[in-house]
Amino acid sequence: MPTCHIQHAKTMASKPWNVLVTGGAGYIGSHTVLELVQAGFMVVVIDSLSNAYKGNNDAKPVCLLRVEKLIDKEISFIHCDITNINELRDVFKKHTFYCVIHFAALKAVGESCEKPLEYYKTNVTGTLNLLEVMREYNVKNFIYSSSATVYGTPEKLPLDESMKTGDCTNPYGKTKFMVEEILKDLCASDNAWSVISLRYFNPVGAHPSGQIGEDPNGVPNNLMPYIAQVAVGKRKMLHIYGNDYDTPDGTGVRDYIHIMDLAAGHVKAMVYQKTSNSTGFKAINLGTGKGYSVLEVVQAFEKASGRRIECKIVERRPGDISTSYADASLANKELGWRATKDISDMCDDAWKWQQSNPNGYKC
Ligand SMILES: NC(=O)c1ccc[n+]([C@@H]2O[C@H](COP(=O)([O-])OP(=O)(O)OC[C@H]3O[C@@H](n4cnc5c(N)ncnc54)[C@H](O)[C@@H]3O)[C@@H](O)[C@H]2O)c1
Repeated sequence: MPTCHIQHAKTMASKPWNVLVTGGAGYIGSHTVLELVQAGFMVVVIDSLSNAYKGNNDAKPVCLLRVEKLIDKEISFIHCDITNINELRDVFKKHTFYCVIHFAALKAVGESCEKPLEYYKTNVTGTLNLLEVMREYNVKNFIYSSSATVYGTPEKLPLDESMKTGDCTNPYGKTKFMVEEILKDLCASDNAWSVISLRYFNPVGAHPSGQIGEDPNGVPNNLMPYIAQVAVGKRKMLHIYGNDYDTPDGTGVRDYIHIMDLAAGHVKAMVYQKTSNSTGFKAINLGTGKGYSVLEVVQAFEKASGRRIECKIVERRPGDISTSYADASLANKELGWRATKDISDMCDDAWKWQQSNPNGYKC
């Protein structure tokens, strides 16, 4: 266990910090729940299970049962849809929270263009419901899952938090931007709120045990799970969308971040909120600061898996940008956080998860 966690658990021994984690049965949520409980936090997870596998257990989704096994502790889970404000009120009636970490959202860019109302309803209205109930119960510490997508098409690189946001090309990105604007207004109206909006770059990989990981429904939207499914034989080949970008090998460059580093960033953000007594709105990038091209990721995955990844170059996808990577220095300065895992760790762990769970949690 990292040193900071040990120190943490000690300081919290007298008064545990209760955290509500929305969307805690999802990919990022489940890894963060594991880190939070290991760090000594008391966690309550809510999730509608719209994008998490329930399995045969009526009480808890499979990923949380696996987390419980890994850490040998029970996790409180409540089935709750954030678009239903009364369900949220019931959760707050039963539990007292210090902080809310808000992952619950719909996240597929393509789908958001086909179903914009569903995206605005869950990501914007659902968040408004949550904030309203938090205000009713005087819970004003909030950590939000934002995304590098709020920067739109970068004017310069690396992307830092002072740069313009909002030039988003799809409804999903717009929901992330809109919620950030709502949070800024909320903090301006009442200085008791403390909001940290964590702008994730590209989360990949899995817990090193291979027991929990990313379990996309149907065809993966993201690169690494797609490559992993090609490697394991579930898909024939990877389509690479364009090799004529202004990058060293022509394929798109992104800042990939290991899921365990990302999860650790949330623990650091919570500690920061508590120990600095910070208030107001703060946006913080969580990335490594280094970009890898699609071809570099393919090569790293081939090395990790010992399998050849069949690839085909196809047309660019509309809305895709050439290059994106973070200036991750603010997270280091403010939260004392930095990414510790590199692309080979990311591929090793993604492969371990994929190989041990070829059908995700549905094995
Ligand atoms: N994965 C990424 O690449 C990425 C990048 C940047 C930001 N994010 C953001 O991080 C957060 C978590 O993403 P993820 O990759 O873990 O996604 P995920 O789909 O795996 O997890 C989201 C969880 O929220 C739940 N959920 C959806 N609608 C809900 C509702 N109405 N009420 C309650 N629960 C609901 C789903 O069942 C799921 O378990 C999201 O807000 C996403 O926008 C993700």
